[in-house]
Amino acid sequence: MNTLLLVVALSGVGGHRHAHWRHCYARQYYYTYNCCQTGTTACNTCSPVVTGPAAAPEPTHAAPAPYAEEKMVEKPAQPKVEAPAKPKSLYERLGGEPAIKAVVDNFVMRAATDEKVNFTRKGTDKEWMATEENVAKLKKHLVDMIGSVTGGPQKYEGRSMKESHAGMKITAEEFGAIAADLKATLDEFKVPEAEQKELLDIVGSTKGDIVEAE
Ligand code: HEM
Repeated sequence: MNTLLLVVALSGVGGHRHAHWRHCYARQYYYTYNCCQTGTTACNTCSPVVTGPAAAPEPTHAAPAPYAEEKMVEKPAQPKVEAPAKPKSLYERLGGEPAIKAVVDNFVMRAATDEKVNFTRKGTDKEWMATEENVAKLKKHLVDMIGSVTGGPQKYEGRSMKESHAGMKITAEEFGAIAADLKATLDEFKVPEAEQKELLDIVGSTKGDIVEAE
């Protein structure tokens, strides 16, 4: 019966504006339509939907995009941007207060026993007594002075270089000898050349205030 109807429909019997039988491939049944010009292969009900492989995909139950992205996509590790390292102060590079104390102990011992320096100022009006108390005070002032001028937290509370050495008649040669003693101490402690130079330059800058005799 169906085959017969189809044959009738497709044979052109009836012509334009007459009813035709067509097969709906989506629903697998025959139907009639009135316009032979449409050439449709699906019934009116399903023709907009049945479009073969290009049909719209079934809606999925996937999480909405932003959530899915956040939960399911592993974000690539962000490279950590480190702040540029702050350059270390001379104080830090020397090793801080413990290292400076050790340097001062060694230096005072060396300079106080160096004849070329005449540290106690024998033969001048300003002869200095190397008592335990005086030595401790001198060392404390030296540590605080070196700490404060190299970037440490210390505060120097002693007198100025001009005031404390006034009348000692210190010569340039004696100043050179005490600077050499400091260098020998820094060598003994294996302080690197760059740090030695920085510290010796600072000490050297006091020469004009300390040297007063030829
Ligand atoms: C030949 C060179 C030097 C000699 C003979 C010398 C000698 C002395 C003496 C005897 C004192 C004790 C003064 C007192 O307590 O009344 C003193 C104090 C001191 N010196 Fe020198 N000194 C010399 C170079 C230097 C240098 C190069 C520095 C460092 C840059 C220095 C830093 C000090 C300091 C910080 C004090 C302690 C000041 C105070 O207590 O107020 N001295 N020096």
